[in-house]
Amino acid sequence: MSNAATSSIYKIRLAKLAEVLPTSGIDALALNSGPSLSYLSGLHFHLSERPELLIFVPGKPLAIVLPELEAGKVNSLDFPLQSFPYKEDPNTWVTAFKQAVAFTGIDGCRIGLEPRRFRVLELRLLEVAAPGAKMLSAEDAIASVRMHKDVSEISAMQSAVDIAQDALKATIPLIKIGMTERELAAELTLQLLRHGSDPQLPFSPIVASGPNSANPHATPTDRSLVKGDMLILDWGASFKGYLSDLTRTFAIGEPDPQMVQVAKLVEKANFAARDRARPGIPAGEVDSAARSVIEVAGYGQYFIHRTGHGLGLESHEEPYIRSDNQLPLVNGMTFTIEPGIYLPGRWGVRVEDDFVITSTGGESLSNLPRQLQVF
Ligand code: CO
Repeated sequence: MSNAATSSIYKIRLAKLAEVLPTSGIDALALNSGPSLSYLSGLHFHLSERPELLIFVPGKPLAIVLPELEAGKVNSLDFPLQSFPYKEDPNTWVTAFKQAVAFTGIDGCRIGLEPRRFRVLELRLLEVAAPGAKMLSAEDAIASVRMHKDVSEISAMQSAVDIAQDALKATIPLIKIGMTERELAAELTLQLLRHGSDPQLPFSPIVASGPNSANPHATPTDRSLVKGDMLILDWGASFKGYLSDLTRTFAIGEPDPQMVQVAKLVEKANFAARDRARPGIPAGEVDSAARSVIEVAGYGQYFIHRTGHGLGLESHEEPYIRSDNQLPLVNGMTFTIEPGIYLPGRWGVRVEDDFVITSTGGESLSNLPRQLQVF
């Protein structure tokens, strides 16, 4: 993609945000390093001990406060951005913040922040530089723009899914009775990187065997795989910053009849949710579709989490696929569908796909077999 084409994406995103901010009662946006800053500017910084701040006021050039050593990153943009670099001495930080506030005129304004991202480090400096400003949450405004993925974002997510699926295919032949969860997690991690994931994985793979599979957020242990285990693998790749997040369940040795029955039930619930998801349907109905399959079969109390979460630049973002979410699904929304059943102290099953809403319905970006696979 050429630089001009890339930057026009950012112009479109900033224009969309400029439309949304006033309806949220927000005059300006202040972001520190993270997915939203990258989404709006194409710039990437490591969150570090040095403060960074991007200021967006609709209709004005962007302003950025950043350490001098990062200043080169903003040279080749072809949309207007004014930078306010500071040197290594922390005493110079507040001056740079004051200059950026003066340039953007945000003192006295209602400034939108990301409550889960914005740090006290930047907040204190901003409060000193703009003492008359009122700080609000811009979470909903930003989510309402980021939720609608464009073609380039969906194509990056498809690549992240393809990499994850290829990594699993390369890992499956290595699974052996006697190997530990930790060893299997190491193999899967290696295969993700070998198949082209960005070095920073969305999360460390979950490898949960036997009773550990009854814990949806288990971390790999030194437990060895034994006959009769259920084995849950939950893993994902990252491509150009966009993430995948998949889960499949395996049986080590012949599964007992209840394992087979529950695995079929979860597969059916996953299908019901995918079948229900389409434009105009409230997100909560996708949850109900999966949940009712499991409830009718008498396992409702063992489906202990929501059916899914939005996925994109972050592994958990809007829209959340939760029973109370009335948000109508729209073309370009991407999220997981991941019903599960967890029998405490015994075992669990989860089947997770990554899904995109299209103009006419929806489709799964992932297509690995969903039925219980037996080793
Ligand atoms: Co997930």
